Amino acid sequence: MNTVLDVRNLSVRFRSGGRLLSLVKDVSFSVSRGGCLGILGESGSGKSMTCKAVLGLLDDNFQAEGGVFFEGRQLLGENPETLRRLRGGRIGVVLQNPMSCFDPLYRIGEQMAETLGEHTSLGRRRIRERSAELLELMRIREPGEVLRKYPHQLSGGMLQRVMIGLALALRPSLIIADEPTTAIDSISRHSVMREFLRIKRTGETAILFISHDLGVLSCIADQVLVMRLGEAVESGPAGRIFDNARDAYTRRLIRRHKAVMSKFLAAVRQGPEAAA
Ligand SMILES: Nc1ncnc2c1ncn2[C@@H]1O[C@H](COP(=O)(O)OP(=O)(O)OP(=O)(O)O)[C@@H](O)[C@H]1O
Ligand SMILES: [Mg+2]
Repeated sequence: MNTVLDVRNLSVRFRSGGRLLSLVKDVSFSVSRGGCLGILGESGSGKSMTCKAVLGLLDDNFQAEGGVFFEGRQLLGENPETLRRLRGGRIGVVLQNPMSCFDPLYRIGEQMAETLGEHTSLGRRRIRERSAELLELMRIREPGEVLRKYPHQLSGGMLQRVMIGLALALRPSLIIADEPTTAIDSISRHSVMREFLRIKRTGETAILFISHDLGVLSCIADQVLVMRLGEAVESGPAGRIFDNARDAYTRRLIRRHKAVMSKFLAAVRQGPEAAA
């Protein structure tokens, strides 16, 4: 499998009143085409900071160092316009705070059309149809109406599903999904995960998937990286981490979530009705 994203010794610091706070410390990982790396870790452990550094989404108050190689090309220090074009194009992005990803002044349909227009060769009419199809795929009812709404008229879970639909539709080489299913109800979560799995099975996309939901993570990740206080404390094949973690913190984290994990896996395998 070839490496799509290779992160080497990534560190992120935050400038605060003349001091530098270390938020991510020397983290390395890679994700290959057709593979999925899951990042696990308690709240505040640096998962989102890591994603944002990779995507070039940190402002001047932050300092990122190390290597972020996307298809062999270093993204740290790359110009903002190039990074903007990659995001939503060859890199599909689903962020933890969906509201921040939409422009409050434009309707959902307009924003979807802009992305699809920029990154596909579809004509205007086909874009409208495709947008509605994507919403349906994400189990959004009455897609025509939703396309006419403004972001603030939709719930966080709905916006999250719009983002996921778009990220998956563009068949990017890399998908970075930061807690993509947290705001989504359990039934839709299963369909959304099935869509992620479908994309993974095409073998064309590398997926970086962040979640503190072990059930969700265990159904998609084949490699897992565990973060704590900005550091990578353990990494390896998902099966080994889930069943036989070396690190005591990881073992505790997994023990706490194991019951939920097996229930979720059973539901995804059986279909949405089983999860109700
Ligand atoms: N905008 C910010 N400015 C300064 N520090 C921040 C900012 N956002 C997050 N941090 C700090 O960076 C550290 C890592 O936060 P991060 O958001 O990456 O955690 P996380 O692992 O994604 O947590 P969660 O599971 O809650 O999403 C935390 O100590 C947090 O307080
Ligand atoms: Mg986060």
